[in-house]
Amino acid sequence: MRLDKFLCCCHMGTRSRVKKDIRGGLVTVNGERELCPERHVDERQDRVCHRGQLCVYEEHVYYLMHKPPGVVCATEDKRERTVLDLLGEDKREGIFPVGRLDKDTEGLLLLTDDGALAHELTSPARHVEKEYECRLAYPFDEMQKERLESGVDIGEERLTRPAAVRILDDKRITLTITEGRFHQVKRMLRAVGNEVVYLKRLRVGPLKLEEDLAAGSFRRLTREEMESLRG
Ligand code: URA
Repeated sequence: MRLDKFLCCCHMGTRSRVKKDIRGGLVTVNGERELCPERHVDERQDRVCHRGQLCVYEEHVYYLMHKPPGVVCATEDKRERTVLDLLGEDKREGIFPVGRLDKDTEGLLLLTDDGALAHELTSPARHVEKEYECRLAYPFDEMQKERLESGVDIGEERLTRPAAVRILDDKRITLTITEGRFHQVKRMLRAVGNEVVYLKRLRVGPLKLEEDLAAGSFRRLTREEMESLRG
């Protein structure tokens, strides 16, 4: 395979970006600087490094992002900044967010080009847990907790599936749900007479949002995390 194509397959950037990097002396093959994008490499044997990082061929790429509030979960938008704008030009090709967070919600968002995994994670049959921190407009009580835990009417055919609630203080809870209906958390809290004023997703299945991943930042998933997601 051509060196520039190999680097694209390793998700090191767009074709034009990696060509520039090769010509700029940022790529080595078996320890030797390689300036020619057309050079052929053996993807199983040659050791290719891009900016000092060993390139490993992977079919798909997975990012864990701390979505900040004020950015929309879409691949493109005429007016609003999207989560793919945060990912950057060199990484966004073919990538989409898995599920949706509202514009004003922050927290853990997965981005990938793996349609099969995205489908699995968002499938209603899989009941993947999503945990949210909710700050509320009004004091939260045991009655609201019990209702959320047994399922509430949010104006659809079926009640919501039972949720798990942890009370953090009188206006702050965590809510864990296993569905992904439109504005579900806000509608559930409204259904029990409260109102969400701030929402942050802390966890999706086994993936947790680390404290030190700043809003707007992202990182690649580790192999172990990818395997735990496929469960
Ligand atoms: N539920 C909501 O109401 N909003 C989100 O962004 C996610 C879950």
